[in-house]
Amino acid sequence: MLLVTGGAGYIGSHFVKEYLSKPGSEVVVVDNLIEGHRRALHSLGDELTKRIHLIEADIADERTVADAMERYYVDSVMHFAGFCYVGDSEAEPSRYFENNVAGSLKLFKVMDALGVKKLVFSSSCATYGDPQYAPLDELHPQNPVSVYGLTKYLIEQALWSYGRTKNWSTVCLRYFNAAGADESGLIGESHEPETHLIPRVLKAAKGEIDHLEVFGDDYETDDGTCIRDYVHVNDLADAHIRALDLLNVKTYSEAINLGTADGASVKRVIDLSKEVTGRDIKVKYSKRRPGDVAKLVANCSKAKELLGWQPKYDLRKTIETAWNWEQNRRY
Ligand SMILES: NC(=O)c1ccc[n+]([C@@H]2O[C@H](COP(=O)([O-])OP(=O)(O)OC[C@H]3O[C@@H](n4cnc5c(N)ncnc54)[C@H](O)[C@@H]3O)[C@@H](O)[C@H]2O)c1
Repeated sequence: MLLVTGGAGYIGSHFVKEYLSKPGSEVVVVDNLIEGHRRALHSLGDELTKRIHLIEADIADERTVADAMERYYVDSVMHFAGFCYVGDSEAEPSRYFENNVAGSLKLFKVMDALGVKKLVFSSSCATYGDPQYAPLDELHPQNPVSVYGLTKYLIEQALWSYGRTKNWSTVCLRYFNAAGADESGLIGESHEPETHLIPRVLKAAKGEIDHLEVFGDDYETDDGTCIRDYVHVNDLADAHIRALDLLNVKTYSEAINLGTADGASVKRVIDLSKEVTGRDIKVKYSKRRPGDVAKLVANCSKAKELLGWQPKYDLRKTIETAWNWEQNRRY
């Protein structure tokens, strides 16, 4: 049985839906619902929901996690649970170290005690820090410049250690910017407050916020705004399934980038969003934010080679799915 931490969150719930598309499959979800939504799992419909065993608990609750692993004969883990805002992590480092790092170490302790050795981890391009070249491949030095990036880096290091000492098989998937929503419109992105660009652009299109604030238009890019690599959440889910298949074949300790290799500037996202929504989007430019780099784009050759993975969604389709969700969001 597969255990999914953070399975009620944005990316986790899209993974759960994709995983359950295999008839008869079941998952155990451990989520404390601090950021996640019970509705995300209930929205999937009775047939899927009855194959989800939701345990409302913290990953640091060793007793409950151990009980769940034993009761459901868990043999592999998808580890999505964690806090994921760079700005918050700088304001509250202790919270991030405790939840992300200490929480993960407790999860790993329980896995170790029960002999569970396969895990796919949600890592991040934030582990690289300031890019020395673009696009970034997995050999780029890891010098995280935020507390958030550092927490992901430390968890990766712990996983390499379990690989070396205990023969664990792990894949750290370093996502770039997750975006979009499931085409069904049943699930999508719902963070409070929402800081990610695409949902904020669409909230401005909807009139839910008065304008979109863009931080800096004087970067060394063609139009002066930052370039990021937006990868559709269902493409991420697909990569997770492939990573799990890999772990079932052989022992690995790998880190793999997940992006589209096609960077888009903030202005490009806004222009495409205007086309997709047919609405005007009010924009105000302000000063650069500390810590934002001009360009973050993935080199995804390794994902193609090792996982046979290629993103299916381009930016327009990603924005279309996000807009579909934004207009009819359920939570
Ligand atoms: N969204 C992105 O662009 C992005 C990019 C790179 C990496 N990631 C990583 O991917 C993972 C999922 O991101 P997301 O955008 O779906 O975030 P999310 O906040 O929507 O989902 C995280 C889930 O984990 C749960 N959770 C958090 N701490 C927990 C704990 N201690 N115990 C149990 N459950 C806990 C939350 O309730 C939530 O359901 C995170 O680890 C994040 O750092 C996200």
